Amino acid sequence: MSSATQEIKRVTTNTLQKMKSSGEKISMLTAYDFSFAKIFDEAGLDVILIGDSASNVMAGHETTLPITLDQMIYHAQSVIRGAKRALVVADLPFGSYQSNEEIALASAIRMMKEAGVHALKLEGGVEICDSVKKIVSAGIPVMGHLGLTPQSIYKFGTYTVRAKAETEAEKLKSDALALQDAGAFAVVLEKIPAALAKEVSQSLHIPTIGIGAGNDCDGQVLVMHDMLGINNEFNPRFVRKYLNLHEQIIGAARQYIDDVKSGDFPSEKESY
Ligand code: KIV
Repeated sequence: MSSATQEIKRVTTNTLQKMKSSGEKISMLTAYDFSFAKIFDEAGLDVILIGDSASNVMAGHETTLPITLDQMIYHAQSVIRGAKRALVVADLPFGSYQSNEEIALASAIRMMKEAGVHALKLEGGVEICDSVKKIVSAGIPVMGHLGLTPQSIYKFGTYTVRAKAETEAEKLKSDALALQDAGAFAVVLEKIPAALAKEVSQSLHIPTIGIGAGNDCDGQVLVMHDMLGINNEFNPRFVRKYLNLHEQIIGAARQYIDDVKSGDFPSEKESY
């Protein structure tokens, strides 16, 4: 088979399980549109998450609460067209699954049917396990999300590190086990102490994906706007900036403005 016709092998939830068993770390980033999903997929990213952080970075809301299921489906439909290899996971947004298992399943089915993603992510522990079981029993893989769960920001009142206190750490550990028992294939651990994330990762047979949770999780996730340096106003210690796109894009836009104003653009070569 020539390289042009070589089949691309899709990353699946089983692949992630094997990666945990073999000790290969899982790479995950968010994406919200076709173009970035295509670039990340070409780079060899394992998992693309259509995060409800779209509410912040795409729509400019202060929290993730306002984004709707319809809006998440639109982003997911765009991402899925760009991803040939990566496992594509979509967040179920606030309000689309918390009421009861039937509503959770109906939202899950809409996302799967209308966007064609491969798995869903839901925030919460024991309190959402009946919904997780219901969704998984319909054949839909579910990723959990514990620690700093932004859909509960008004309950926390702050974006600081979670589960530093013993009681919250104990609850997080039992939530992680409950999600695994409910059939979740992986769990995101957000902004918790590294030692706790290590303990949870070792106690679960399913992979953990960390964000601000240290180096002992089975994988890592970052919001694409953070790691690309698009937003220069958000600089928490858990973000590593691989580019400073904010500066580069401002520079390019300023150069373009100058070129238009001075009449330098378009040149003869750029004209018909
Ligand atoms: O919405 C999101 O981007 C997320 C990641 C931060 C894990 O849930």
